[in-house]
Amino acid sequence: DGALANTSNAQHFMAGFVRTALRTREQRLNPFPWYRTCLSQGTVLRDETSQSWDVFGYEEAQFILRNHAHFSSERTARGQGGPGNYAPSILNLDPPRHTQLRRLINLAFTPKAIAAFQPHIEAITASLLDDIVKETGGKAGEIDLVDALAYPLPVIVIAEMLGVPAADREKFKRWSDLLVEGPADLRAETLADLVARRAAGRKELDDYFRDIVDVHRQKDDNTLIGALIAAQIENESLSLEELISFCVLLLAAGNETTTNLIVGAWRCLLEHPETMAMLRENPALVDGVIEETLRYYSPVQATSRIVTQDIEVGGQQFAKGDRVVVWLGAANRDARVFEDPDQFIPTRSPNHHMAFGHGIHFCLGAPLAKLEARAAILAMLSRMEDISAVETVLAPIVSGFVYGVKSFPIEVAWV
Ligand code: HEM
Repeated sequence: DGALANTSNAQHFMAGFVRTALRTREQRLNPFPWYRTCLSQGTVLRDETSQSWDVFGYEEAQFILRNHAHFSSERTARGQGGPGNYAPSILNLDPPRHTQLRRLINLAFTPKAIAAFQPHIEAITASLLDDIVKETGGKAGEIDLVDALAYPLPVIVIAEMLGVPAADREKFKRWSDLLVEGPADLRAETLADLVARRAAGRKELDDYFRDIVDVHRQKDDNTLIGALIAAQIENESLSLEELISFCVLLLAAGNETTTNLIVGAWRCLLEHPETMAMLRENPALVDGVIEETLRYYSPVQATSRIVTQDIEVGGQQFAKGDRVVVWLGAANRDARVFEDPDQFIPTRSPNHHMAFGHGIHFCLGAPLAKLEARAAILAMLSRMEDISAVETVLAPIVSGFVYGVKSFPIEVAWV
């Protein structure tokens, strides 16, 4: 998100996030009662502390995300990207530049293009599971789902697509953790410390990709970085800053989010043993489990926009320049659209959740994320004859927009 990279924007997100009721471990793990309370007061509420609008209603959220002329994604003022002056990525651009840049890589991410990766994604999943069997001698016991599979799988896949060494994944983890981290509290020292660590992390990422781009310039290859280096828009190549921002976005956007989709699906399955039993009987249910996890435990809970012209939404008057926080996680539990929104119902149909956003910025990686989640869930079911939750207090990720847990211990018995 914009908040990923930019310091002033990070402060906005921090303010917006911390003032919400999401201050304790319990609230971060379970922000849903807060959404329910807000939705009962209105679909759009003003927050004076953070000087922004909070949007909770499904229809209002969709209206805003569809209407990119009134609601800009250029949250980071161009050329004022804080330390380092980074170029905005497509996530933080409006048309026409957004359209031009997104078109360059759209083709690589269509469901058809991604489907070709399926055997490879299954092979990576199998080899990660083989590694655990090797380490544990195949004995039943506890593993951390995040470390063992849910984190490495998406990182290895995107690293290979981009053309960066998957072996660097420990570094990526540190950087992408930092990019989604929010402040633990609102004290000035906490904020300053996070802003400084985030700027340092972004600088390291930047230097890392500068070297990688250099290496790719020397050779012809069919990686995404190779394609972006060769790409031209109106006879001009992308600038080095644009190339780097693209790489950082692709690496960061797909990591933590897909990890949390996989973990979220297992949280749901372990909370609903009858669903797990049905899924073992009928693996075709996996797609419904994934869609419902996306709605129920949306890995991205919020995004933001800036109002470009005065406009009314949900009975409230927005003024030019106002900031708007769109709570996708709340829209996905709006009872006007989803019956029994607080129930996990994997056979829900239709299930038009907004977990991947809506409109021109709709998640580029959605087909890839779903394919990875599918591979992870099905491989675990077929290789493990028993999977159960470990009695533990989960530690939520401390972030203003990414929802998930830092680790997820499970007890497994191999087939
Ligand atoms: C955009 C969610 C996985 C790449 C978005 C947006 C959301 C989202 C909500 C729109 C943000 C906005 O409108 O401000 C998710 C979730 C994922 C996931 C929940 C996993 C479950 C991925 C993966 C990749 C990816 C695997 C790529 C490898 C992108 C990119 C954009 C984006 C490039 C920006 C698109 C644009 O601005 O046109 N994602 N994402 N995402 N996502 Fe994802």
